[in-house]
Amino acid sequence: MKHSDHSLTWLTCLPEAVPAQAVTPLDVARAEINQALAVMQHSIPVVLRPDSTLSESFCLEREGEGYILTGGSTGILYGAYRLIMSLKTGGTPPSGVQQPRYALRMLNCWDNAEGTIERGYSGRSLFFEDGRFDYDPVRMRQLARMLASVGVNVICINNVNVHDPAHKLIEEDWLPQLSDLAAIFRPYGVRLMVSIDYAHPLRCGLDTADPLDPRVADWWKTRAQLVYRYIPDLAGFLVKADSEHRPGPFTYGRTHADGANMLARALAPFGGALVWRCFVYNCLQDWRDTKTDRPMAAYKHYACLDGQFDRNVILQIKNGPFDFQVREPVSPLLLAMAHTNMALEVQLAQEYTGHQIDIYAMPPMWKEIFDDLPKERITAMAAVGNLGRDMNYTGHPFAAVNLFAFGLTAWNPDTDPAALIRTWCRLSYALPAAQEDALVSLLLGSRGVYEKYTAPLGLCWMVEPHGHYGPSPMGYEYALWGTYHKANRDAVGIDRTASGTGYTRQYDKTLCDKYENLNTCPDNLKLFFHRLRYDYVMADGRTLIQRIYDDHFEGCEEAEAMARVLETLDLPEPDRSEAARRMALQLKNAREWRDVTNTFFYRLSGVSDAKGRRIYD
Ligand code: GCU
Repeated sequence: MKHSDHSLTWLTCLPEAVPAQAVTPLDVARAEINQALAVMQHSIPVVLRPDSTLSESFCLEREGEGYILTGGSTGILYGAYRLIMSLKTGGTPPSGVQQPRYALRMLNCWDNAEGTIERGYSGRSLFFEDGRFDYDPVRMRQLARMLASVGVNVICINNVNVHDPAHKLIEEDWLPQLSDLAAIFRPYGVRLMVSIDYAHPLRCGLDTADPLDPRVADWWKTRAQLVYRYIPDLAGFLVKADSEHRPGPFTYGRTHADGANMLARALAPFGGALVWRCFVYNCLQDWRDTKTDRPMAAYKHYACLDGQFDRNVILQIKNGPFDFQVREPVSPLLLAMAHTNMALEVQLAQEYTGHQIDIYAMPPMWKEIFDDLPKERITAMAAVGNLGRDMNYTGHPFAAVNLFAFGLTAWNPDTDPAALIRTWCRLSYALPAAQEDALVSLLLGSRGVYEKYTAPLGLCWMVEPHGHYGPSPMGYEYALWGTYHKANRDAVGIDRTASGTGYTRQYDKTLCDKYENLNTCPDNLKLFFHRLRYDYVMADGRTLIQRIYDDHFEGCEEAEAMARVLETLDLPEPDRSEAARRMALQLKNAREWRDVTNTFFYRLSGVSDAKGRRIYD
């Protein structure tokens, strides 16, 4: 299948693909600058000065009418894109040496070899179909270019759940094609990574995958040698082990340090990283078991292993302790491992946040994470991708803002969310100033609106099971996944304080005290940390039940207001029609969440809405 007839997202200023013969980032930088200047009808001189000592860094200096761009091997390309974006948006390019905050800025695609994407909402896989590679090289270059333009330097192309035959990515018959793909991304400074099956040796004649068995370690060393013969700059392996039925070292009574280090030692001679995910919890919990509290699991497994991981191991930890809910506190594990390399994992795919039907811009959410997570604690950022074969890559045209902002946030987490969103809007759409302002504020506020009409106050898991779109207040209540809110006629929420499950004790004193104390625990996390009666009076003077009703009514009204704003925007086609089509679905979703959730709590509590709005009895 060919799919070259696609639209570019924020790179609309660069309509033509870079010639296939560009072999280094310097070639690409030169071609991009020449093309951009021609398209924008700028005639300023730009001198490129490669300086390999700068590696990924760059420096843009004014000289007369033009610029001197000094940069390392990929830094020069990053500098070129930054200059182009500044020229296009009328902004000023950054001055002084710019270097990325995190060396690893990675996109994790959850693509399956048969062509589906786990939690994918923008069509089928860009890489695979029918159990084999199937990609359009032109589109791959576009993707590489999009990633490079925002500084993403690694892409993991397959699902962390490695389903057959994706394990073949590291087998002899698939490696030549993997190598061809790596060659497309290489001139853009983007390296490939692959997710591996921890139990792969069992497929190849060994009777164990015990990390301390020398035969297993040797098998991985030999395998790494083979893989690196084909792709000498492979970024490494990504592993989901002992998580949601994936195999792992627990089978052999070993720790995750044993498993990760064994693999890391196979990769070390080639400079590869071993990225090990910490999404480990009991996914077969009995709902009657009130002792086990799922958000506590990752900390319990890993905090005690701090300092035991090899230098090329990176633990990849989701931003919250549950699983990409609309609002969670920062994962305590991210704050606990001072002697371990950690990557913060966020999810661009809108699994719990509207499936790229509902508008949900994430930069404000990431800023909140960094309010509690000192930036020097982590060494990398990873994002679960939101891409697919749809013409615009992300399904909802506005979902592209999340990939754009992710790359630039991983480059510099101090970047202001509003500035990122504005830059994306301006690069993507040349709207009149008032319309641009309207789109920026619509996007900036979109997360808050979604939170209000779905799951305000830190309420998690009231979503339709499995699919995770739309309301189902009891959907996960008696499930095996450790996902309970225990709403009854008087109260809702789990007590996670010291007198409850003790989850708050996984934080240091400051955060523990903040969350323990009802007066300092923010309202938007109250039901994450506390079990509260419906007549509990919130910080703003309203009762809990009234807040639940109000938020759902207001969230829905705010979504309707977003729809009205959207109608006024002169977006280019097909984005205008596509955004309008999806907005109609968003409104349907918002009304469903409002009515189902309010009815659920009304029927349980018997408390009427103080404002007399329609709730179904
Ligand atoms: C979520 C998601 C799964 C995914 C998992 C993961 O649970 O629903 O589809 O595999 O996260 O992050 O590994």
